[in-house]
Amino acid sequence: MTSPAPEPPSGTGPDESPGLPDFDLDALGREGLREAHAPLAPTAPVEHDGTGRVRLHFTPAERSYAVPPGVTVFDAASWNGIAIDSTCGGHGTCKKCKVQVTAGAVPASPLDARAFSGAELAAGWRLACRAAANTDLTIDVPPLVTRPKAATVGVGRQVILRPAVQKRCVELTEPSLTDQRPDLQRLTDAIDDLEVRPTLYALRRLPRVLREADFSVTAVIVDDVLIDVEPGDTTGSRHAIAFDLGTTTVVATLLDVGTGTPVAVASMLNAQQPFGADVITRISATMLDPAAAERLQSLARDTLDTLVGDVCDEAGIDRTSVYEIAVAGNATMTALLLGIDPEPLGVAPFVMTASSFAGLTAAELGIGVHPAAPAHVFPALGAYVGGDIVAGMLASGMDRDKRLRLFIDVGTNCEIVLADGETILATAAPAGPAFEGGAIRCGMRAAPGAIEVVKIGTDDVTLSVIGAADGADDAADVAPAGLCGSGLVDAVAELVRVGLLDASGRLATEDDVAARHPGLADRVTKVGEERVFVLAWLGEPGDVSRSVYVSQRDVRELQFAKAAIATGWSLLCEELGVSPRDVQQVLLAGSFGSYLAPGNAVRIGLVPRLPVLRIVSAGNVAGEGAKMTLLSVPERAGAATLLREVRYVELSDRTDFNDRFVDELAFPG
Ligand code: FES
Repeated sequence: MTSPAPEPPSGTGPDESPGLPDFDLDALGREGLREAHAPLAPTAPVEHDGTGRVRLHFTPAERSYAVPPGVTVFDAASWNGIAIDSTCGGHGTCKKCKVQVTAGAVPASPLDARAFSGAELAAGWRLACRAAANTDLTIDVPPLVTRPKAATVGVGRQVILRPAVQKRCVELTEPSLTDQRPDLQRLTDAIDDLEVRPTLYALRRLPRVLREADFSVTAVIVDDVLIDVEPGDTTGSRHAIAFDLGTTTVVATLLDVGTGTPVAVASMLNAQQPFGADVITRISATMLDPAAAERLQSLARDTLDTLVGDVCDEAGIDRTSVYEIAVAGNATMTALLLGIDPEPLGVAPFVMTASSFAGLTAAELGIGVHPAAPAHVFPALGAYVGGDIVAGMLASGMDRDKRLRLFIDVGTNCEIVLADGETILATAAPAGPAFEGGAIRCGMRAAPGAIEVVKIGTDDVTLSVIGAADGADDAADVAPAGLCGSGLVDAVAELVRVGLLDASGRLATEDDVAARHPGLADRVTKVGEERVFVLAWLGEPGDVSRSVYVSQRDVRELQFAKAAIATGWSLLCEELGVSPRDVQQVLLAGSFGSYLAPGNAVRIGLVPRLPVLRIVSAGNVAGEGAKMTLLSVPERAGAATLLREVRYVELSDRTDFNDRFVDELAFPG
């Protein structure tokens, strides 16, 4: 049973002004991520070393998320589809993002002192975009009270709210012998601010709907296309769905494009999983069996269509109220969804059939929304820097920030982008399945039972396990069943920190551990000939057959993965003529990268050796980019422009790649 969300304080500070501020592009700071105009809460930068996680529980949604410390409540909510009021996009200028911290503590920021009374501050009210989470928190999120002119996306960037989906409610005069204009002209004459051309679907509906509704109708227009005519006034219902079509996980966000807010979010494993965990195995399946491509296409459609049902059910709307979709996926996922042969993507010289896809409809893709809804499929840069990365670059403003920034989407295939405001370089590095828990002895996906956080003490090991449900309280009841990618990184980084793994990646022997860490000695043992470090005994202590452990081979897998990535970013830095130490911000993107502890990413050498506060979890930026294009026509054009600005750097033809790769295998510690 949940209690109703409280109303936010009405604003008692001297700067509080009623209603919406005028929209001012410059004031919004279109500089990309986290261009904070106001400081965060004062203790935010110093309370953590970047190696742990904090758990945020949101009410009344009753959803919990583990995020790296230092992430703001606003960002964590946005990444996960929890809408917090805002008109400035997290820049600390609107003072709309009021939330109440009901458990745990966040120091008041200077801006909080101006936004709230003393009593409100004492009751835990804070501005979410200024509230850096450094401990576990419970946060009550009031319902939205404003109708933003600009929309917020989960990376702290803001877009002008100008969706392609428009509605116009019109009362038409009825035809007569003296007014025999065609129905379409009668309608378009009444819409004086848009030039539209009709779909055949709309023409077929037009005569009947007009007459049944006594000529009082709503025209549904996407870009300049009249896709439907609905009886009465339906202007209050304008929806679109953004899909992040991942190889592993697919996320759908239902947007109210009238307000720019996410209404429902759902995710599920890509139903193509039985054909293999990565893009290469799925491409191989189509090469071995001609029927596989058709099957993969239908599984992708099924996945998207199931998610449509989920988000529409959650929001209580009909599927036909979704008038546009956007899909951001890598080149292989996109090809498979469109029924395009992916084979040329999998063999040298790795060529796409097309880099952009115009004029598609959701119906052509087999996705059940409005029958005439257009489908915006993200353009791709290359076979291994696909539409998901273009969407991520767009969301994180890689083309508009003057700082030297490194974007890393960590996954089986890792995409890396380096930009300095003038030049944008991109590459892809084959990291292998270690980060997804694949090829790891006790590996598993980030699902209930997966160890996601590891801390090694002098004589004990503390674990955090993903719970069975969203509720934080459930987590404690779930026994560890395996190790997911972030848990593996944590475990290896911790073993390096306490000296049980040397820089070359060799696990300490039983004798070494007994001498230096006697409290941990019983955890170092062998499975067959392989040395392992036991994280959790599931049966009797000493029964390694029923335990979750990190093996020597697992460490090697992680070394290969991180060395591939480090080789990628070091070569991009060389191409741009900069040192990795000059990088001002590292964005860790993707479902894995976002939950990776920055300090541990530094310790294992996955990212350059930088202060942890320069390393930022960026959330599901592909999904955010897809949302942007649905909320803002100018941003959609920006994605096409980005494509022309990026220079792709091919790693596989570099003669020095292997030497560099070997150099990057060591753990910097
Ligand atoms: S002040 Fe605008 S989102 Fe926080």
